[in-house]
Amino acid sequence: MNVLLIGSGGREHALAWKLKQSPLLGKLYAIPGSAAMADLAECQAIGQEDFEGISDFCADKAIALVVVGPEAPLAKGLADFLAAKGIKVFGPSQKGAMLEASKQFAKEFMDRNYLPTAGFSVLYSWEAAQDKIKANRKYPVVIKADGLAAGKGVRICMDEAEALAAASDFMEKRIFGFSGSKVVLEEFLTGREASVMALVDGETFLMLPPARDHKRLLDGDAGPNTGGMGALCPAEISKADLEFIKKEVLQRFVDGIKKERISFRGVIYAGLMFTPEGPKVLEFNVRFGDPEAQAMMPVIKSDLLGLLDACAGGKLGSKTIEVTGQTCVNVVLASKGYPESPEKGKEIKGLDAVPAGVTVFHSGSVQQDGKYLTHGGRVLTVTAAGKDLAEAREKAYAAVNGINFDGMQYRKDIGL
Ligand code: AMP
Ligand code: GLY
Repeated sequence: MNVLLIGSGGREHALAWKLKQSPLLGKLYAIPGSAAMADLAECQAIGQEDFEGISDFCADKAIALVVVGPEAPLAKGLADFLAAKGIKVFGPSQKGAMLEASKQFAKEFMDRNYLPTAGFSVLYSWEAAQDKIKANRKYPVVIKADGLAAGKGVRICMDEAEALAAASDFMEKRIFGFSGSKVVLEEFLTGREASVMALVDGETFLMLPPARDHKRLLDGDAGPNTGGMGALCPAEISKADLEFIKKEVLQRFVDGIKKERISFRGVIYAGLMFTPEGPKVLEFNVRFGDPEAQAMMPVIKSDLLGLLDACAGGKLGSKTIEVTGQTCVNVVLASKGYPESPEKGKEIKGLDAVPAGVTVFHSGSVQQDGKYLTHGGRVLTVTAAGKDLAEAREKAYAAVNGINFDGMQYRKDIGL
């Protein structure tokens, strides 16, 4: 079957790498794809939000399945648009994508459907926010912009002044535009974090191997939040916690979307915190995590295309998922200035000498005169699997040592 993958980042590079191994695959296309993905997929320069263009392309190339990588086109309704044209899509409806695109929607969905999450209130205006914050006695408190904010819309505030500053940035100064028209004020939780993703076909779910991202820029979880500086998969989660997550998070999620008639055929990503009272959901994403996907694809033994196609077709019920038993670690190589204002256009050296068994997924690079140049904050995700965490780390960091570009920064403690 011919498959069209939407997206251009490291996550999509990893999905393309795994889809390419499928015996079910005819031709693989990507919109817009990237220079690095061109080895795996035929890339077409159509906008990710050009719905007509994408649907015409599907008709033209006899596409049997569209796999949507990023959230933005889903939040704009790409899956609904293609489904209405009879095209099979892996990726939830616009309403389903609101679970990522609106913190308020996600929190209220969890509340209505009894999923464990931090206590919260929604503030609808800057005036209301000031009153609520001034009345708040418990610190730290978490302030979240309602809408999409590229992972920067969450502030942990230590006192009233910080909380007012955060609310002012979001609601008064509108640093994320419309995304800050409402804010969620949330109880501060503590504990380790992990990401649990599951395929959901509208009726049932299939849990994927759990992963752990490293969201802060610097070693020891210091520095600002980023999109993710490296990941580990599978993350060690106790059997009891996994059972709890299946029952109290994933099953309740599926029950909730059914009850609320939310069309959802794709991947749900639950960002979890393992608090002293048990696992709680911090956030939902409606797509694979990045860089979690780059660490997950190498440990999935099952045919990914078979799984995604069954999911998109509402036929997940009979499927199971097999893993390799290895542990995978990846290290994100980021540009100087990331996450605030990353430099671009630096030559990437050492890509031809990457050791066997290590895969380099490209998140933000372009090709010019046969060379790769940096073209974004997160540039590469260097990925290695091993018999255990130590071996995977050793292989990944050995490969990292052979790669460089001006201003390259990365964490040395991924997996630890
Ligand atoms: P989110 O985008 O909601 O996942 O938030 C980004 C990061 O902020 C999370 O990975 C957590 O480290 C932190 N965070 C979010 N919500 C809370 C909370 N209620 N308590 C403590 N930390 C939080
Ligand atoms: N790595 C976190 C995310 O994809 O949202």
